[in-house]
Amino acid sequence: MTAEIIDGKGFAAKVTDRVADHVSRLKTDHGVTPGLAVVLVGEDPASQVYVSSKGKRTKESGMASFEHRLDAAASEMDLLNLIERLNGDPAVHGILVQLPLPGHLDDAKVINAIAPEKDVDGFHVSNVGLLGTGQKSMVPCTPLGCLMMLRERHGSLSGLDAVVIGRSNIVGKPMAQLLLGDSCTVTVAHSRTKDLPEVVRRADIVVAAVGRPEIVPGGWIKEGATVIDVGINRVDAGGGKTRLVGDVEFDGARRRAGAITPVPGGVGPMTIACLLANTVTACCRINGLPEPEGLAV
Ligand code: GUN
Repeated sequence: MTAEIIDGKGFAAKVTDRVADHVSRLKTDHGVTPGLAVVLVGEDPASQVYVSSKGKRTKESGMASFEHRLDAAASEMDLLNLIERLNGDPAVHGILVQLPLPGHLDDAKVINAIAPEKDVDGFHVSNVGLLGTGQKSMVPCTPLGCLMMLRERHGSLSGLDAVVIGRSNIVGKPMAQLLLGDSCTVTVAHSRTKDLPEVVRRADIVVAAVGRPEIVPGGWIKEGATVIDVGINRVDAGGGKTRLVGDVEFDGARRRAGAITPVPGGVGPMTIACLLANTVTACCRINGLPEPEGLAV
């Protein structure tokens, strides 16, 4: 068997088009322009690239983008004051504080200061609780993108055996909740899991989100399974070069899986598309307007 390659880049482009369509309709029919505020504290080079790219993509889809860059030494009060201002700003419908924050700042305290209805990352404890109890919430972008790709491939996920490898608050835990919400039988595996090969072997759906290069050998994958690889790991490719690999050994897995996301070009592009989708969803909910179809759970 040779797996179908799930085209995350193409799928993300379709989601982004749907977002742009809805933004245009919100403007013409209701005079509302969705706005996303992104906050970066410090000068971490990777975070600077992510934040610039989020701002660019937000503007390209017709939304307003507000960038706030704070000095690495900014106090917790500086950051909380900024968040309070954004919470009360009617032009801002989504607020994202780029993580990781410098060590002297408390991630949880900062995230929980964001108004839950503007929490486009879905990290606020209220949104985590709403998702866990099957209520309407803002859903973290990466798991939302993974769920969209799985629904597109399978239609119904009901009754399928799913394993999520990794238990982070950003990906693993919300992914497990979403799969449970779609009636999968879900196993969350992690570094202490006793027999990971056996857990993976019986899974119809494997979502790998540990951030360890090729930790899942292709031979573990069940024939015909769907593999969603969230890992983006830079490894030595010899000759002073590097290359990106996922958490799953792609060539081996491709020979057994029914479908698999590539790295790069799989989950990555869906994450930013879902951030744009969440911003439109937040804008509609805040203004009591109909939400776009298929962009939220
Ligand atoms: N840093 C890495 N991924 C993310 C994310 O999804 N959201 C935020 N806010 N920061 C991140």
